[in-house]
Amino acid sequence: MDERKTMFSGIQPSGDLTLGSYMGAIRNWVDMIDDYNAYYCIVDMHAITVRQVPADLRRRTMEQLAQYIACGLDPHKVTLFVQSHVPAHAELGWVLNCYTMFGELSRMTQFKDKSAENINGGLFTYPALMAADILLYQPDYIPVGSDQKQHVELCRDVATRFNNIYGDVFTIPQAYIPRVGARIMSLTDPTSKMSKSDKDPNGCVHLLETPEEIMRKFKRAVTDSDTSENCVRYDPAEKPGVANLMQIYSCATGESFDEIEKEFLGRGYGAFKTAVGEAVVEQLRPIREETKRILADKAYLESVYRMGAEKAAATANKTLRKVYKKLGFVAR
Ligand code: TYM
Repeated sequence: MDERKTMFSGIQPSGDLTLGSYMGAIRNWVDMIDDYNAYYCIVDMHAITVRQVPADLRRRTMEQLAQYIACGLDPHKVTLFVQSHVPAHAELGWVLNCYTMFGELSRMTQFKDKSAENINGGLFTYPALMAADILLYQPDYIPVGSDQKQHVELCRDVATRFNNIYGDVFTIPQAYIPRVGARIMSLTDPTSKMSKSDKDPNGCVHLLETPEEIMRKFKRAVTDSDTSENCVRYDPAEKPGVANLMQIYSCATGESFDEIEKEFLGRGYGAFKTAVGEAVVEQLRPIREETKRILADKAYLESVYRMGAEKAAATANKTLRKVYKKLGFVAR
């Protein structure tokens, strides 16, 4: 029997993968690949809470799967799958909608941020579906960036509420948030998160961008308004742009903030930005090349997502059957 603890996480294919998702999430999934029984999902059902162009959604789903593998997620070691291939997500999602309070959903900051236009029901109840994604696999940890902490907290509350009514049905999971890289900020506006849907293309680095594009973005990155100081020092309150670049450099090289400060003592922002760009280029180069290679083999990708859906469904259906029984649904 597998004695390892279980992990679950997912990313929406609503935009091309960014350096933020890589450093906040995927990188850590790869680091822990041998230590946990893990499920990593492409959450296409979440993506449609915002209107998508169908051909783009299909392309990005395949690209995201190829990038998961290219980053080092060996599909024979972890379960990689597409959310809509495992119907139990939609089914448990509905059930948990009935155990999630209107007030709880209203307090979600991501809903408030996104709800300027097209305020549909799915966008509002999104965290109940996310709770279902997680709870189906009875995981111990959810490795995510810090922006998902509130959603994982809500998932814990809903699971606890359900367990209090029906007995021990769900494992109560914990968010696993990295010490460095949990919130990578935009390169052009270091007060806002780097995001797939950023309006400013210069703020965000994508995993598949060319080295030239990446270098250009880092050379233009905002450091701080007081350029007279020109000193690489970790001070997120006073120098958010520099602190963000230090986070990125630390994730790419493994150096601590102290080591980075020493390395760039007296060298100024220009040299630092070039070094960060180069470190990121080198980190992403093999991922980009490997993604291209994997994407060319459509039959292989199909075999990966079929195998993943089968493994995921076996676990998910077990939990769903347990839930249906507890609720009083007549077994088919
Ligand atoms: P999503 O698709 O927005 O982001 C995917 C993952 O990447 C992390 N992330 C970041 N980390 C650091 N800095 C950034 N700038 C940055 N941008 C994104 C996110 O924290 C996340 O870990 N609701 C989720 C998707 C989801 C999910 C789940 C996650 C659906 N069901 C179940 C975990 C478990 C989301 O929108 O993530």
